[in-house]
Amino acid sequence: MAGRIPDEFIDEVLQRTDVVAIVGERVPLRPAGSNYKARCPFHEERTPSFTVSPDRQTYHCFGCGAHGTAIRFLMEHDRMEFREAVQDLAQRVGLELPDTDSGVRTSDQHAPLYTALDEADRFYRHALRSHPKRQAAVEYLKKRGISGDIAARFGLGYAPPGWDNLLRRFDDPRPAVRAGLVIERDGRSYDRFRDRITFPIHDRRGRVVGFGARVVTDGEPKYLNSPETPVFHKGREIYGLYQALRARADRLIVVEGYMDVIALAQLGIEGAVATLGTATSTEQASVLLRSAQEVILCFDGDQPGQAAALRAVENLLPALQADRQVRVLLLPDGSDPDDLVRAEGRDSFLQRLECATPVVDFFLASLADDCDLSTVDGRARLLQQASKTLRRVPRGLLREAILGQLAEKTGLAPDRLDELLRGDTPAQQSPKRKPQTPGSTQQAELRRTPARHAIGLLLHQPQLGAHAGDPDRFADRGIPGLDLLQQLLELTRQAPHITTARILERFRDSSYEAALNRLVAAQRTNAPEDAWPEFRDALRRIEEQIVEQEQADLFQRLEDEQRDCWTEDEEERVRKAQRLQLLMDRLKRDGLTADQEREIAELRRDFGL
Ligand code: UTP
Ligand code: MN
Repeated sequence: MAGRIPDEFIDEVLQRTDVVAIVGERVPLRPAGSNYKARCPFHEERTPSFTVSPDRQTYHCFGCGAHGTAIRFLMEHDRMEFREAVQDLAQRVGLELPDTDSGVRTSDQHAPLYTALDEADRFYRHALRSHPKRQAAVEYLKKRGISGDIAARFGLGYAPPGWDNLLRRFDDPRPAVRAGLVIERDGRSYDRFRDRITFPIHDRRGRVVGFGARVVTDGEPKYLNSPETPVFHKGREIYGLYQALRARADRLIVVEGYMDVIALAQLGIEGAVATLGTATSTEQASVLLRSAQEVILCFDGDQPGQAAALRAVENLLPALQADRQVRVLLLPDGSDPDDLVRAEGRDSFLQRLECATPVVDFFLASLADDCDLSTVDGRARLLQQASKTLRRVPRGLLREAILGQLAEKTGLAPDRLDELLRGDTPAQQSPKRKPQTPGSTQQAELRRTPARHAIGLLLHQPQLGAHAGDPDRFADRGIPGLDLLQQLLELTRQAPHITTARILERFRDSSYEAALNRLVAAQRTNAPEDAWPEFRDALRRIEEQIVEQEQADLFQRLEDEQRDCWTEDEEERVRKAQRLQLLMDRLKRDGLTADQEREIAELRRDFGL
């Protein structure tokens, strides 16, 4: 068991490391003043907003907020774990990682939890072999075709009936409580798992971090799982990965249940793993892709199974690199791998695996499934749905492949598609991102967002504000620059003849001063008659951003709450947002019919525009 790396050692490593060199080996940097610049490797962008500072020894992206040291960069970019990243850097500068495997261990604050989990693991395994009440559990496992070997390999156990079989074994029950093994309620303590078959969940290093536990025959709930604890995070662990890695499986088969993992192993199909009753998280996706050449997602073909597969794919695609392969296998409706492999045998299951669908085909086919591609609406909807994921897919062969297929389906040229998908939309930014302070003194080149563009135009020609509609619709939208735009619109509406200099004067010593000065300087002057269409377009693009931001927030909510679907109200909101986007797009291109005019007015009101 490896303990914590001492802080002094990490300091030493960072002191000897040059972040510019580390980043520079992976991203083409060019000098810019005392810093270096590049296009950000963590999000799609056209103009470089990613800077590396040799003085501060950090990198920072003004577009997506990515930020950190050389260690962080390796973790994010090369998807290393913390320890791996420190080790990698240490090696480069000729330092050796101190031997934290001994001695320091006792200082690990989680050590008592691991000890309790280990104790429980040994107790349950022993009980399956020798507890007087074990018979029904043993028979059940036999009936399901599980051999002693496989049971041992996966550490299957038995938690006997009774309230304190495990509890009694601890002098101090507190670590067992913190590890989720013992429940403490109203001053009473008792075992969480009683009369159940136990499935230990190992982390990648083989430590037991939690358990799943199945009723022996019937009962509710079928499975009980350890709760989230300081050492067990469901979104991070992958059941069976430890065993798969030890078996040196060159492909991982992601299935839904504990018993599926075990049934496949029983029939000599290596590499089956399961996420723990939750959707495949981004973190799990990157662990899966780091662990094997190929990942096959194997889900029930029913509606929830398909949705789970799509969600997993959406998290896998952004982390997928050219040397890895991902495929999807949907099983006949209502069957899981366990049922199937028993019913039709090993060979035909392997045959099914051979025929699994390449991930890009699956991704686009399942998005297209509920879009009628013979209509403009349907094609717009497909684009809309694909874009959420595509924005997170870095430039490269995979992205090209997706764009190529998307082009075929929508009849749009790949270049035009790329343009549409890369448009300056707020969805590119994580909604949780910290807003940039407008007055920040960072000397980064400003990315031309619609808000900045509108502000620049307005500063040069304040009279534009008179026709801009209600300024309040831009307030409190959480999009950088809009609060300033709202204030400027208010000001120019009240004083249509105000001059640029006077506006700047009004904001002197405010947090906006620096930003305003930069925007005035950056905005080219155009003829007054050209300014209006440009300004109107910028405002329209801002409105599009607002609508898109709202959708992004709805998606985020699903992800945060790990839900499968929106509520009816949310669903309706998304539908309206999509319709509004479509009409806005049409308005720009070919204008609207009278009916559509009425519809768009109504939708705009719905979104406070
Ligand atoms: P399944 O019901 O498909 O489980 O749920 P299974 O593994 O096929 O179980 P058997 O074959 O009936 O024994 C899939 C997964 O969902 C989680 C578990 O991780 C399970 O393996 N689950 C299911 C729970 O956490 N709790 C439950 O009550 C049910
Ligand atoms: Mn099953």
